[in-house]
Amino acid sequence: MMKPIALITGASGLIGGYLIRSAPRWAPRWEVRGLTRAEADLTDGSHVQALWGQWHPSLVIHCAALSRTSVCERDPAQARRVNVDATKRLADLAHDIPFVFLSSDQVFDGLKGNYLEADEIHPLNVYGRTKAEAEQVVRQNPAHSVIRVALTAGTSPTHDRSFVEDMLRTVAQGTRLTLFTDEFRCPIPAGALVRALWEFVDCKQPGLYHLGGRERLSRWEIGTLLAGLYPDLLPSIQSGSVADFYGPPRSPDLSMCSDKIQALLSFRLPGLRQWLASKPRIGDDPWDDLRVDRQ
Ligand SMILES: NC(=O)c1ccc[n+]([C@@H]2O[C@H](COP(=O)([O-])OP(=O)(O)OC[C@H]3O[C@@H](n4cnc5c(N)ncnc54)[C@H](OP(=O)(O)O)[C@@H]3O)[C@@H](O)[C@H]2O)c1
Repeated sequence: MMKPIALITGASGLIGGYLIRSAPRWAPRWEVRGLTRAEADLTDGSHVQALWGQWHPSLVIHCAALSRTSVCERDPAQARRVNVDATKRLADLAHDIPFVFLSSDQVFDGLKGNYLEADEIHPLNVYGRTKAEAEQVVRQNPAHSVIRVALTAGTSPTHDRSFVEDMLRTVAQGTRLTLFTDEFRCPIPAGALVRALWEFVDCKQPGLYHLGGRERLSRWEIGTLLAGLYPDLLPSIQSGSVADFYGPPRSPDLSMCSDKIQALLSFRLPGLRQWLASKPRIGDDPWDDLRVDRQ
């Protein structure tokens, strides 16, 4: 029998890559097809439409985005084309199938922390504003879902996408990293994130959800935990306060409560500390899902 097709956009990105690699384990009932920008630029409406007609997907997990805040600030028009317009086009094409849109904790301003799905949003940057706008578009269809994803730790196909890879690259270039003790996130390992996404799809409970790690950690705590795994980081990180930072506005506390999605899952969402406590085997990707079952 033919399997239904699950279309994953942003297949060459961090989360899209993990979704595809993890599918044989967590989503065997789907024929998973990843779409990269090289295969179809999602801002090209006629190309997308033609591809849709060929593939007839039964599910879309929409990971493609202009996801770097600095790139979005530099080119807000392109950020809107990719993050809002392309999302609307896909959500419209997917009007009669489940459509899962990955949004971000950056729709919040970070003044409150421990955000619930019912909390008011107030993005501080172009990236967050485009995500907030796309959320509205997607949520017009009650069968569609918006998942606000937290800071995700992982190894991307191009080795230059995750915040972990950014940190490693920065220190490899000889730059010291100041990590704030008063800026908080709920980082989640990519392996656990994609397992949760695949399980979520099977639950058939569309809506708005937060998906992050269960531990609220400061940037400094995150850095010191990572230094246990990547010793090269240790001599190059120092603690600091966001109060001493001069630059564009930052969100002090983007921690989110993920209890709503947790109630649908068969496993406990891990925190970063707990994840790293079970040491990966040498050669393994430390961020994949090999160790989730043991928690
Ligand atoms: N990673 C995180 O920490 C995090 C946190 C919160 C929310 N999110 C959200 O989760 C989703 C996935 O994130 P990610 O970390 O996997 O992002 P990513 O690594 O930056 O990947 C984004 C993907 O989108 C593709 N893309 C960009 N413009 C495109 C276009 N015009 N047409 C087609 N594809 C295009 C990119 O293709 P190229 O490789 O060719 O550029 C890339 O494959 C995004 O919506 C992001 O905003 C991520």
